[in-house]
Amino acid sequence: MTGTESAVPRIDTSRPHPARVYDWFLGGKDNYPVDEELGRRITAMQGDAPRHARANRRFMERATRAVVREAGIRQFLDVGSGIPTEPNLHQIAQSAVPDARVVYVDNDPIVLAHAAALLHGTPEGVTEYVQADAREPRRILERAASVLDFDRPVALSLIALLHFIADDDGAHELVDTLVGALAPGSCLVLSAMTADFDPENVRRGIAAYTASGVTLVARSHTEMGRFFKGLDLLEPGLVSLSDWRPAADGEREGLVSLYGAVGLKR
Ligand SMILES: C[S@@+](CC[C@H](N)C(=O)[O-])C[C@H]1O[C@@H](n2cnc3c(N)ncnc32)[C@H](O)[C@@H]1O
Repeated sequence: MTGTESAVPRIDTSRPHPARVYDWFLGGKDNYPVDEELGRRITAMQGDAPRHARANRRFMERATRAVVREAGIRQFLDVGSGIPTEPNLHQIAQSAVPDARVVYVDNDPIVLAHAAALLHGTPEGVTEYVQADAREPRRILERAASVLDFDRPVALSLIALLHFIADDDGAHELVDTLVGALAPGSCLVLSAMTADFDPENVRRGIAAYTASGVTLVARSHTEMGRFFKGLDLLEPGLVSLSDWRPAADGEREGLVSLYGAVGLKR
């Protein structure tokens, strides 16, 4: 496991962390009272936050299958991977392509503490975890290169990550650097929060995160579209996650305040 060679990570339980609040939304057990408290506050204001989190996981599943099937991708770089939640991205990818190679990246010590759970993949495939900050994309590329061949297509997943990174904190530089390093045939899979559909609730959610010391930004359709410059969007383009190829079983997700899209690099 890359990253464990560094100092034992310190888990700060005095303030909420995005990975753990999200884990609480998903019904996980890897969170602390301070995370639950923020999760409850947000849910009280925006009762469907857990539904949004579940819809985001399902988008990850559908988009990962799509890049395997439609772009023939067998290598994955998942930045902001989060605390393991089944099915994890490598399980989706390796169930379709057993020799898929997957690198997970996150900067939260609790994700590192649970990384071993991410590393049980198929015997033919590879799963690796790198502890790194998304705002250091060159470092991520260097470390991921021990597992991924960047001369061949890679699916770069930035799923529910970029709303924690403001534009002036390097959101565009990190996307441009990572996408710039990808070979033709690679994909960018991205989801992030928007206030376009439900501005009042989203504004209150942002205020609650901000009051707890967590940066949260909502982006408009135009702002989100900038992350995909130079890429061709797979159908249906950049839409609410609930409209991105909804599951054939007809499950109704309702409108979700996150945009999602998959861009193909030609
Ligand atoms: C809402 S969770 C999303 C997890 C997973 N991608 C998913 O969609 O289910 C956001 C994750 O991004 C991580 N994150 C936030 N800022 C980060 C940064 N600057 N560098 C690396 N990871 C970051 C958090 O630790 C958290 O695990």
